[in-house]
Order: sequence, then C-alpha cells, then structure tokens
Amino acid sequence: MKTIVVSNRKGGSAKTTTAVNLACELAKIGSVLLIDFDTQGHASLGVGCEASEDNGAHSIFVGKTLSETFVHTVHDQLTLSPAQEFFDVYEFGDLRGVLKNRFRREMIHDFFDYVIIDTPPTFDGLLKNALEVADAVVIPFVPHHLGVVAVGQMVRAIYQNASLNSQKTPEVGILPVMVNAHIPEHREAIAKIRTQFGEEKLFSGIGIDIKLAKQFEGGNPVVLDEERSRGVKDYRHFVEELLARLC
Ligand SMILES: Nc1ncnc2c1ncn2[C@@H]1O[C@H](COP(=O)(O)OP(=O)(O)O)[C@@H](O)[C@H]1O
Ligand SMILES: [Mg+2]
Repeated sequence: MKTIVVSNRKGGSAKTTTAVNLACELAKIGSVLLIDFDTQGHASLGVGCEASEDNGAHSIFVGKTLSETFVHTVHDQLTLSPAQEFFDVYEFGDLRGVLKNRFRREMIHDFFDYVIIDTPPTFDGLLKNALEVADAVVIPFVPHHLGVVAVGQMVRAIYQNASLNSQKTPEVGILPVMVNAHIPEHREAIAKIRTQFGEEKLFSGIGIDIKLAKQFEGGNPVVLDEERSRGVKDYRHFVEELLARLC
C-alpha cells in the first residue's frame, strides 16, 4: 500500500482537484481509500458524496475507528472517509499518531492499494497526522511568485516535521497546476522550482481546464467522465509519472 498526501498551506492551489482525480485514476488499477481531512468537505463533493456531521474521518480523534466512516463513491474501487464538517482541531491538544495508529490497528494496508489524503491549508495536527503516514507528498502549486515561496515553505515543513519526529522522510513531488505556458511568469516560476528542488521533484503539470472546476457541480470526477479533455490528459500523465517514482 502507498499513502499519498496532497498538501500545500496555500489555499486555492488545486489540492482537492488533484486528490480527487488522482484517487479516481488510481481506482482504475487498484482499491483506493480517499480521506477528506479538510473540514470544508470539497473532496467528498468531488466523488459524489457530502461531508458528514458526526461520522467523518475526523471522528478518529474522538475515539471512532476509521473504517466506520467509510462510504461508497462514484467508483466501485474507491472508498471515501468523508470530512467531518464542524470538527475543530484547535479544541484538541496533542493529536499525534492517531491516524497512524488507526492504520495499524485496522490493518488498512490489507484492504487498499492506495490511500490518498486531501489536507487543509494549515500546518496543524491534521496535516501532521497525514504526514506521519505519508509515503509521498504531492505539492500542487500555481506558478506565481507566492506559489514558489509556498512550495519552499511546505518542503521545509515536511523535512522538519520528519526530522523532529524521527520519521522516514516521504518522497516529495511538486505539481504545477493551472499552467499556461504562454505566460512568462508561469515559465519562470516553474524554472525556479526546477533550480531549487531539482528536475526529479517536478511533475509535468496540469493546464487550465474549466472542466476540472465544473466536475464538483455534478460530483463526477473528470478522469472518469471525460476522454479528451486537457485536464484528463494532464492528470493521467501526472499519475503515470507519480507511479513510476513510487516504484
Ligand atoms: N487545472 C485547473 N483548471 C481550472 N480550474 C482549476 C484547475 N485546478 C483547480 N481549479 C479550480 O481552482 C479552484 C481551487 O482548486 P481546489 O482544488 O479547490 O484547491 P485547494 O484544495 O488547494 O483549495 C477550484 O475552484 C477548482 O475547481
Ligand atoms: Mg481543498
């Protein structure tokens, strides 16, 4: 089993769009669990479901098992642990190790080939729980100056968190999103990432495609419904690149 966390503290950087399309593309080749750790519940909407009021992924922090939160989605091989809408992470003290413990106790690796975790745009106990189980972290970013700065901050946070807690450092991959190659600033931002982090950390990227935004209206992920759209092609290529790196 491989666990892939999609994260960036910057909002609006296509974390949820990436998590949903990655989960659905992987569900074509294996069994997938998508954990919606952002209480906004947008990843849940993306796979035809809704956030839960009292039985979502976040209820593992109040003593529930992860498995009792599971719901079926638009794809047979894709299971969702939806967001719990009003969970307030700041009401809790030290949340460390809870998700990792649930994975172990519920033998999640026996049931799924891939776990994808969509995370909130904060560096809090939820993100730390996700990082504790991550084999890989994908950081989607919009190629602007602040996007580049945010990637740097995120990469440092991942490495620092792993070393503070003596954990294995996950593989880090950086995914440019909403890219328009005709815009010089986009090309420059991507070049900066290449220089700072190395070609091997950079994925090819996802272009702008309004279908990727519209998919949330109908709860039908574009990689399941569309064949020829730009977004589908780009996300498929991204998943191929990611799988090659995870081997
Ligand atoms: N490649 C894309 N082309 C066009 N719109 C996109 C693309 N990727 C994401 N979006 C839209 O951008 C907005 C932010 O994406 P979202 O996945 O919600 O980001 P985050 O989870 O990081 O906040 C959403 O409205 C989404 O539909
Ligand atoms: Mg999101």
